[in-house]
Amino acid sequence: MSDAQTLSPLDEAGIARAVEEARAAFAAASTLDELKEARLAHSGDNAPITHANTQIRNLDKADKPTAGKLLGGARKEIQAALAEATERLQAEAETAAMASEKVDVTVPTRRNPLGARHPLTVLTEDIADFFVSIGWDIAEGPELELEWFNFDALNFGPDHPARQMQDTFYVKGTQQVGTDEIEEYDQLILRTHTSPVQSRSMLAQGVPLYIACPGKVFRTDALDATHTPVFHQVEGLAVDKGLTMAHLKGVLDHFARAMFGPEAKMRLRPSFFPFTEPSAEMDLWFPQKKGGPGWIEWGGCGMVNPEVLRNAGIDPDEYTGFAFGMGIERTLMLRNNIADMHDMVEGDVRFSLQFGTTGRGN
Ligand code: PHE
Repeated sequence: MSDAQTLSPLDEAGIARAVEEARAAFAAASTLDELKEARLAHSGDNAPITHANTQIRNLDKADKPTAGKLLGGARKEIQAALAEATERLQAEAETAAMASEKVDVTVPTRRNPLGARHPLTVLTEDIADFFVSIGWDIAEGPELELEWFNFDALNFGPDHPARQMQDTFYVKGTQQVGTDEIEEYDQLILRTHTSPVQSRSMLAQGVPLYIACPGKVFRTDALDATHTPVFHQVEGLAVDKGLTMAHLKGVLDHFARAMFGPEAKMRLRPSFFPFTEPSAEMDLWFPQKKGGPGWIEWGGCGMVNPEVLRNAGIDPDEYTGFAFGMGIERTLMLRNNIADMHDMVEGDVRFSLQFGTTGRGN
């Protein structure tokens, strides 16, 4: 730094130049780092001005005040220019930081969709509401069921074909028997219908009894357009003194209208179930049927077989009952014109959304 050594503390023009150079350097700095370099060069220990300042003590006494004033003023100006540049660059840095951290609150967010309730769930609740509205109770039973409740109590003979492996899922597992006894079984079954709830409810609650039981049932069917190995049924059971098939028909008609509108009507066709006698298939009058209005099979029903009442400790000479059961998937398919069972089991939210069930119950 030859300049540093050569700037004389009495060189007024040189000092003024040093001040100008410092000012220019500070003004040219575009970052705080650059400003720091400029500060070291123009007012640091090796800066010409600083050196000149230290030279004052070597001057003649008479020159000291002049030089002191000269350099004091110069250093003040340099400090002022430095302060000004520092302020400018700090403000710029702040603005830049604000800009880089800026959050645009108007940018649309990626909302997490809430999903939609499955139409089967909603329909199941509607069905339960219907039965509650006519004064019935909602009953439940286990999905993993004792063979006795699913078949024996319902008067299925030991060789009844429905017990065959090709219809029924047999499972090894445990079952609660008493209030807290758990027993292990080599052969439990996934219930093939909701009818075992009939015997369970009769045994648990006695008579008179009016129950509806919506629930999951299982059969060894492959999934196709009209079958699924896991589906839902709703069971109805009424046991009281003096119940007849007319009561059964009345409840079914009322239920059909609740599900399918005021035009809906039912027809009973003779059929057979081990647990009802007489038994009937119920057909629903379906105006929207493909190829023109007609009857569509909706479920099974009948008067509770005296054997079933007896198995539940109820005297069939005193009490009679009627029962019915239908598929909830089938009900939904008919009601909402759904052609393919796959749509109902695949869980694609776009399927559920069509039913406008978002947020219901939330
Ligand atoms: N449980 C029968 C079935 O799954 C339906 C049914 C219920 C029939 C009650 C008569 C009485 O097919």
